Amino acid sequence: MTDNSSKPWGGRFSESTDAFVETFTASVAFDRRLYRYDIEGSRAHARMLARCGILSEDELASILGGLERIEKDIEAGEFEWSVALEDVHMNIEARLTELIGEAGKKLHTGRSRNDQVATDLRLYLRDRIEASLAELKRLQEALLDQAERHSDTIMPGFTHLQVAMPVTFGHHMLAWFENLQRDRERLRDCLGRVNVMPLGAAALAGTSFPIDRHYTAELLGFDAPAENSLDAVSDRDFVIEFVACASLVLTHLSRFSEELVLWASAQFDFVDLPDRFCTGSSIMPQKKNPDVPELVRGKSGRVAGHLSGLLMLMKGQPLAYNKDNQEDKEPLFDTVDTLLGCLRAFADMVPAIQPKADNMRRAAASGYSTATDLADYLVRRGVAFRDAHEIVGRAVRLGIDSGRDLAEIGLEELQALSPAVGEDVYEVLTLEGSVSSRDHFGGTAPAQVKAAVERARQRL
Ligand code: ARG
Repeated sequence: MTDNSSKPWGGRFSESTDAFVETFTASVAFDRRLYRYDIEGSRAHARMLARCGILSEDELASILGGLERIEKDIEAGEFEWSVALEDVHMNIEARLTELIGEAGKKLHTGRSRNDQVATDLRLYLRDRIEASLAELKRLQEALLDQAERHSDTIMPGFTHLQVAMPVTFGHHMLAWFENLQRDRERLRDCLGRVNVMPLGAAALAGTSFPIDRHYTAELLGFDAPAENSLDAVSDRDFVIEFVACASLVLTHLSRFSEELVLWASAQFDFVDLPDRFCTGSSIMPQKKNPDVPELVRGKSGRVAGHLSGLLMLMKGQPLAYNKDNQEDKEPLFDTVDTLLGCLRAFADMVPAIQPKADNMRRAAASGYSTATDLADYLVRRGVAFRDAHEIVGRAVRLGIDSGRDLAEIGLEELQALSPAVGEDVYEVLTLEGSVSSRDHFGGTAPAQVKAAVERARQRL
């Protein structure tokens, strides 16, 4: 048993907290990561209290001095965290009072840990969303560089993982760029809802002191104070929304990873992943494993799990604050770490991916990927599309039976299938002819890819 007289809320208790319950209910082991934001929030709160005449200028000065000292001590690893003091908020406040005396005890005027923790979390998340946006952008720039370099490098495009039509590697890179562009827009949009200030809501109903919430919000760079005090302390929808955004980023990176794993295999052999992003096997000396994409694919599942966990955390809670909300932090922190780690790995790795143009070309050429071009050609010559489809199906059959690609089948043989075939048919049967004919906005023609890269650079 510990003595509850040391606890900021010890007054109404006649018995000490059970030793296990103390550890069970404490969050300091993980929420200490919020210290910088907790101190930033306290500074602004104290300044506002002084401006409103609730604290004297001397008290403010000594609070600011104490907070600065605490921040330095924490950063130097010299702060003593105490589980008995439950969380980051009470640890810092208790130490402040220890350092500066009476004025320290006044900092919590007109404030509760309920609005304090919601504010800390929003400040933290704002900061981490900004970091995520920057990493996303770095990855997108790498994709644009690859797209520009390989605007006319041919590869097979797939549906059902079967060779479908030739595309360019640049076009494929731009597809990933677009995914991530939407992710970045979603995160920016989410940031707007994160950047609203709970402080002043106090425990749940506001405070009887004449505070100025707009001033505090301005000091902290929030867009506005939250409109409703009950809502401000109780909802964690901004955490859920961020984790949903992160889940989508990681779903995209997971799909991209799956492609890289396939492409790096001996069976596809489309790309070379640099050694520094791969690891070997402890038993099979020949192995070079694509660990980074595999791990990213795996980690995406963890974050999707956090999303459903947080939804479950929220759904049974009546207004306003409940201790359940303490459980939002570990999944949020893990999501932030996972997201930033995966983005960093990809932003570092993507510039170093070397496509193997010959292999990709061979795969595109051997998969009858220009069959649709032949059908379109016949349509241009007056054949109805359904009939053209049937004719080309027979041409493919002929190719399969004789081990030839469409471009290797002689003119007479093709004309035997359809009299509409002319000598110029071979222009559409080549891979280059196929990709360059898809020459419209959003198409895979090299000229379109180059133009899309230009536009994308503007949109970044
Ligand atoms: N550690 C708490 C949390 O993370 C801080 C708020 C505690 N408030 C309370 N009334 N017990 O949610």
